[in-house]
Amino acid sequence: MFSQVMLDALNDQINMELRSAYAYLAMSAYCERMHFRGCAKWLRLQSGEELGHAMKLFDFLRDRDGKIVLKALPDMPVDFPAIPDVFQQALEHEIAVSEKINYIYELAFKEKAYAAGPQLEWFLTEQIEEEKTARDIVAKFNLVRNDPAALLDMDRELAARTPGGDGGGE
Ligand SMILES: [Fe+2]
Ligand SMILES: [Fe+2]
Repeated sequence: MFSQVMLDALNDQINMELRSAYAYLAMSAYCERMHFRGCAKWLRLQSGEELGHAMKLFDFLRDRDGKIVLKALPDMPVDFPAIPDVFQQALEHEIAVSEKINYIYELAFKEKAYAAGPQLEWFLTEQIEEEKTARDIVAKFNLVRNDPAALLDMDRELAARTPGGDGGGE
């Protein structure tokens, strides 16, 4: 069994993953409204992936008889300055999530919750990939920033993401 502090951290992480799913869905809705369907599709798939992360932790706690506590999700933004800003925010969000996972990983050792190690290592690896993917997309948007034709190319490129795909990384 996990200590209360470890249990709280894992439940908080379920909330953060659900919040990620919610945030990506809000970004997707904005892109749909702006008619950037490729971006919208990419973000919607990412939202599904984040839900998968939440469920991974949900199942992890379930299997260890940990009390699952689902907390409130905040309202999400409806508007963004422009399409590239959506992905900039996504990158910043992923960096914040990575910091959170690092913190829980450290906590797991402090709390002697060694059983959580492999699960958290999966998340550490996943965050490296997610940050890299987001950083690559942001870098491309920074290059094309105000070129409508290039923005539409980017939209087409992001439309190529498939369910279960790695988010566009290699
Ligand atoms: Fe996640
Ligand atoms: Fe993520």
